Amino acid sequence: MAGNVTFTMIKPDATAAGNTGKILDKIIEAGFSIRAMKWTRLSKEEAGAFYAVHKERPFFGELVDYMTSGPIVAAILVKDNAVEDFRKLIGATDPTKAEEGTIRRMFAKSIAANAVHGSDSDENALIEGAFYFTTREHAQ
Ligand code: RTP
Ligand code: MG
Repeated sequence: MAGNVTFTMIKPDATAAGNTGKILDKIIEAGFSIRAMKWTRLSKEEAGAFYAVHKERPFFGELVDYMTSGPIVAAILVKDNAVEDFRKLIGATDPTKAEEGTIRRMFAKSIAANAVHGSDSDENALIEGAFYFTTREHAQ
């Protein structure tokens, strides 16, 4: 059975453009509740560790530079079928391929500066949430 927790980051392009509130509204309107939330800025080490699965990919350096270029908002979100439903809400990685009405279609600037992160599995949602928050901070 699919889990009810996912993890998101509002990325530097979206915080810089002043879209944090609009994106949070879309997330809440879609039925997610916010379990924990933090405005912060990643160091290169933290961004590299967060995206370690991509470290062999050609875009890894660009990804780390971009994710450390400004503040981000990290949040743990709760909803039935959270991971899949949130990926649908944000749309494809490349905003030109994202469906109309998705967060990336509305707010992303490019494939790198694509406004939001969404976990890709229940297991990664827990790992990513634990990267930013202690268990006490997201206790039910
Ligand atoms: P995310 O993890 O941020 O939610 O994005 P995703 O699952 O849709 O995409 P993923 O394959 O996990 O890639 C992670 C992030 O790396 C950047 N990227 N850049 N320049 C490129 O070709 C490229 N490909 C991916 C994006 O910011 C993507 O969100
Ligand atoms: Mg991903």
